[in-house]
Amino acid sequence: MTLALTLELSELAIEISREAGELAHTRRQEGVRLAATKSTLADIVTDADREVEALIRDRLRAARAEDGFLGEETGAEAGGSGITWVVDPIDGTVNYAYGIPAYNVSIAAVRGEPDPASWEVLAAVVNAPALGEIFSAALGHGAWSGGTRLAVTEETPAGALLATGFGYDPATHEGDLATVSRVMPMARDVRRMGAAALDLAYVAAGRLDGYFERGLRPWDFAAGTLLVTEAGGAVTRTDVDSARPMLIAGGRDVHARLLALLTENR
Ligand code: IPD
Ligand code: CA
Repeated sequence: MTLALTLELSELAIEISREAGELAHTRRQEGVRLAATKSTLADIVTDADREVEALIRDRLRAARAEDGFLGEETGAEAGGSGITWVVDPIDGTVNYAYGIPAYNVSIAAVRGEPDPASWEVLAAVVNAPALGEIFSAALGHGAWSGGTRLAVTEETPAGALLATGFGYDPATHEGDLATVSRVMPMARDVRRMGAAALDLAYVAAGRLDGYFERGLRPWDFAAGTLLVTEAGGAVTRTDVDSARPMLIAGGRDVHARLLALLTENR
């Protein structure tokens, strides 16, 4: 895989995310309409989620017709090039619906089977239009935002600033809260911002020291994981055969401590 190709994929992802981000932002200003609920009543999809995914899919098809596609709203389509685009048109949909600006368009190009257990992420963008920030990465070329190279932070004596999230199924909340209490001894505080891709972008940018969450779907983390690793951090998925695998990300030391705390038997 050449550096030129990963850069080309990254440039394309950024360009498409700009148009997609503008569309999401415009639709948000016009007013959000709930289109349906999905896995639970709390798991919503808006008309904008669908419209933004359709736009991204069209633009990718026009630019790279041989590539595969895996999107949150429209599912999977195999390609012939060995590259698949993994897309969350709006990550942080509940924030979006409530008018909280922490939502983003997340686009990743992966090589290999479109399965996080084996894929290699080549290029990534997390574009948060209402925050005016674009985070991008190309494999072997670092993670960037607005011309600044991103670098993860390491824990300070004050403890790690961590983020997490909770799934849409109320039945899982108690277990997730127990997980939070496991890591509290190493935390200076915990944030819950409501958009997994943005949590990962913030780890890459050194705005968070670490992040963990159970039950994420591939489009929630595909782009964000490359941001973290290209910013010098580490990402691990555990319990991959369970219904709710755990994703752990952070600077190397924070990641190692989180991994130890979250995998130790009690
Ligand atoms: C969700 C957000 C949220 C996380 C959920 C995700 P969506 O994605 O990333 O922070 O806690 O697990 O499903 O539904 O807004 O695209
Ligand atoms: Ca989404």
